[in-house]
Amino acid sequence: MSLGWAMGLVLPLAGCDDTEFHTRDVVHAPAFEDVRAVIDGACIECHVGVSAEADLDLSTDFCGTVASRALVVPGDPDLSPIYVRMRSTSAPMPPSGRLPQDELDVIHTWILAGAECPSTS
Ligand code: HEC
Repeated sequence: MSLGWAMGLVLPLAGCDDTEFHTRDVVHAPAFEDVRAVIDGACIECHVGVSAEADLDLSTDFCGTVASRALVVPGDPDLSPIYVRMRSTSAPMPPSGRLPQDELDVIHTWILAGAECPSTS
């Protein structure tokens, strides 16, 4: 019994892999569809149409909107208001609380890799 307990503590450590984010060169942008999916799932309910909260409509021309409102700083997620608000503890977006880590990672990696947009969005 005590051996099983000890193994349970040790085994998860074997799965650690910290090689991926050592340099910016190895950052691979997620597909833009994945970025869109996070925004559609977590933000559009409030940020849509002429009555969008903060007059911020993220439902159409997402790339044009975040550029014109300076919500994304390509290459620097921590200076990008859209990501900063997603990570914020005092004023998070969505207001109901923090998104799952994998969804935060999609946005973080997309911005870090240059916030590339499809030519038509
Ligand atoms: C339940 C409604 C709701 C949801 C869902 C929501 N927002 Fe908001 N958002 C607001 C409100 C209300 C404001 C204005 C007040 C404020 O800034 O906190 C706002 C403001 C913002 C602002 C500031 C805009 C500016 O120009 O000052 C950003 C950026 C933002 N939201 C991004 C997001 C993102 C990204 C998501 C999805 C991850 C999201 N929001 C989801 C209600 C929402």
